[in-house]
Amino acid sequence: MSTCVIVPAAGSGTRLGHTEPKAFVQVDGRTLLAHSLDAIITSGVATTIVVAAPEVFVSLAEAEVAEVRRRFAGGAGSGKGRVPPEAIEIIVVQGGADRVESVEAALAAAGDPDTVLVHDAARALTPPSVFDRVTAAVSSGAEAVVPVLPMIDTVRRAEESPRWIPLDNDADVEPVPPGEQPDSPGEQPDSPREYPDTPREQPADVEVLRGDLDRGSLRRVQTPQGFAAETLRRAHASYRAEVRTLGEAARAATDDAGLVERLGVDVVAVPGDEESLKITYPLDLVLAEHIARERGRSHPDSV
Ligand code: C5P
Repeated sequence: MSTCVIVPAAGSGTRLGHTEPKAFVQVDGRTLLAHSLDAIITSGVATTIVVAAPEVFVSLAEAEVAEVRRRFAGGAGSGKGRVPPEAIEIIVVQGGADRVESVEAALAAAGDPDTVLVHDAARALTPPSVFDRVTAAVSSGAEAVVPVLPMIDTVRRAEESPRWIPLDNDADVEPVPPGEQPDSPGEQPDSPREYPDTPREQPADVEVLRGDLDRGSLRRVQTPQGFAAETLRRAHASYRAEVRTLGEAARAATDDAGLVERLGVDVVAVPGDEESLKITYPLDLVLAEHIARERGRSHPDSV
C-alpha cells in the first residue's frame, strides 16, 4: 500500500509578522518545513512526500529536504514506521496562489498512491503518532479522516448589522440614546443630521452575535487529513468544475476535508493533538519554540 504525504508550504508569513514564507520561518534553529518533514519521515507512513513551495523558494525547499535527509542518514533520528527514511521519495513542486492550488500542484506530482495525506507545513510540530492514527483509519476503510480536538472556547456566529454610531470616535462621546436613533436604516438621511444635545452620527455595520452554537458538538480540525487518493482527486476535480462555472461565487475551502464532504462522503474524526498547533501568529511561535526545545531536551538524539 503506497501513501503520499502532500505538504502545502507555499503560504506567506504575513500574519506571523515575517517577510519570508511561513514554512521557512525557524523554530529552535530549524524551519517549519524541516520540522514537518521530520515528523512525516519519523512516522514511517509515507512512501512519497510532495512539498508545494512558493515559486522563488523551490530551491530553498530542496535544500531543506537535503538537510533533513542528511540528519536521518547521520542517525540523528530514525524512522519508527514501516517505510525507512532512505526509501522515501521526496519531491518539491511550485505551489499555487491559494492552498487548494498548492495541493492540486502536489497531487499532480504524486504518482498513483492508494492513500494521500495532506499536512500543512504550518502544523510543524505534529507528533508522528497523529500520522499513524490518520493512516490507520484510512487503511481500515474510511475514505476521509481528520484529526480533531474539542472546542474549548464559547463560539458564536457573527452577522453585520446596520447601526447609527457617533461620528466622533472620541471615547468620551456618549452613545446616542436609543430613543433618539432613527427607527430603521431606510430612514437614514444622505448626510449626518444634527440632533439636539446629541453627537452627530453615521450609519455603520457593527458585528452582532446570533445563534447559540453547541460547543459540545463542535470540533477544531487539524492536519494531517487522510484520504483514499481517488476520493481526494474527485473532490478537487469537482471544486475546479465549480470554479469554472461560478467563478468568484464558487465556495472557497480552507481544507481538503471540506471539499471531500461536498461529495457526500463521510469525514471520520480521530483524536488530534494540542502540539499540532497551526503556527499562524507571533504568539504561536513562542509556544512552538518552547515545545521544540522541551522535546530536544527530553530526546537529545531525536530530529
Ligand atoms: O493560510 P493558511 O495558514 O490557512 O495556510 C495553511 C497551509 O497552506 C500553510 O502550510 C501554507 O503554507 C499553505 N499554503 C500553500 N499555498 C498557498 C497558501 C497557503 O501551500 N498559496
